[in-house]
Amino acid sequence: MTSRVAVGIAGTGSYAPERVLTNHYFEKLVDTSDEWIVQRTGIKERRFAAPEQATSDLCVIAAQRALEAAKLDANDLDLIILGTLTPDFLLPASSCLIQHALGAKRAGAFDVGAACTGFLTALHTGEAFIAAGRAKHVLVIGAECLSRFLDMTDRSSCILFGDGAGAAVLAPLSECKRGEILRTSLGADGSSFDVIHMVAGGSRNPPSAGSVERGEHFIRLRGREVFRFAVHKMAELIEHMAEGHDQSEISLVVPHQVNQRIIESAVDRLGWSMDKVFVNIEQYGNTSAATVPMAFDEAVRSGRIEQGKLVIFCAFGAGLTWGGTLLRW
Ligand code: ACO
Repeated sequence: MTSRVAVGIAGTGSYAPERVLTNHYFEKLVDTSDEWIVQRTGIKERRFAAPEQATSDLCVIAAQRALEAAKLDANDLDLIILGTLTPDFLLPASSCLIQHALGAKRAGAFDVGAACTGFLTALHTGEAFIAAGRAKHVLVIGAECLSRFLDMTDRSSCILFGDGAGAAVLAPLSECKRGEILRTSLGADGSSFDVIHMVAGGSRNPPSAGSVERGEHFIRLRGREVFRFAVHKMAELIEHMAEGHDQSEISLVVPHQVNQRIIESAVDRLGWSMDKVFVNIEQYGNTSAATVPMAFDEAVRSGRIEQGKLVIFCAFGAGLTWGGTLLRW
């Protein structure tokens, strides 16, 4: 049996589309207010992709930035894994479009469907490939064009989401010397599959004129139920990832940017300080699989992470799915 290869993060990158929508935009569409949205969610604005942009286009820019930071070329990649719930097409996988656009001629490519846990699922899968000696350089991405699946007449969901992409290049730790992935965890509970749900468009309810008329291709969620689950799960994931480590060893927690109040409640439940938690929901809203890699890239580039200290990622979403990562920067 070969020994496990330690895996690190060689570089990160992200991209947010240029078009900014403030809360005032939604005041014209539904019965809501900037004050309500800020108080209940922490969101002030979000980005929406341009009409000609789809998820893979956002990914390519984030990926190029991550490759540049890693000082690697697209031809160095062995594998590309994309976590998304809003692929360009149902068929083929958007990771193949990314592979082609990057010119990553040697790379295999596939998508993973774990909703908001999509980036962590891609990250843990990529880590496992390198750890097992089956790949050397893996590009992992979390990205969404959620704006295409929002019911702009439903005030409880349309105000929450935005578009964006975040990427990381994984490599053997011996080569990249930082970001060692120390602990990973993934979980699921399909009994609650309909808490966050797109009813039509798949094989159970194929798209039809009727399904479109009924708006069944839009994201539907039972926000209050998600809220309760999310506070409990976020606190549990952070606690599990930090197990065996003193709080002083942890430089930063990068949680799924789901709702400022959910993040604060979870951190409060743990008795931790918000100083250790990276939040950028104010600017981008909830970009599902993209929140963690976008926030992490921003934290890295702004020097928020102390060298040699620990970083925790945690995410959860439709499925239900959840995941946590512990790494040393
Ligand atoms: N503006 C004004 N009022 C609103 C809005 C809005 N945009 N949205 C809901 N309300 C109203 C409701 O209709 C309700 O009115 P009622 O009391 O007359 O029935 C009232 O506000 C309170 O509703 P709650 O649902 O209790 O409000 P809450 O404080 O829980 O906030 C929210 C709602 C923001 C959706 C919150 O529950 C939440 O963030 N939940 C999690 C969000 C979520 O599911 N995200 C997806 C996770 S999965 C993923 O990331 C893809």
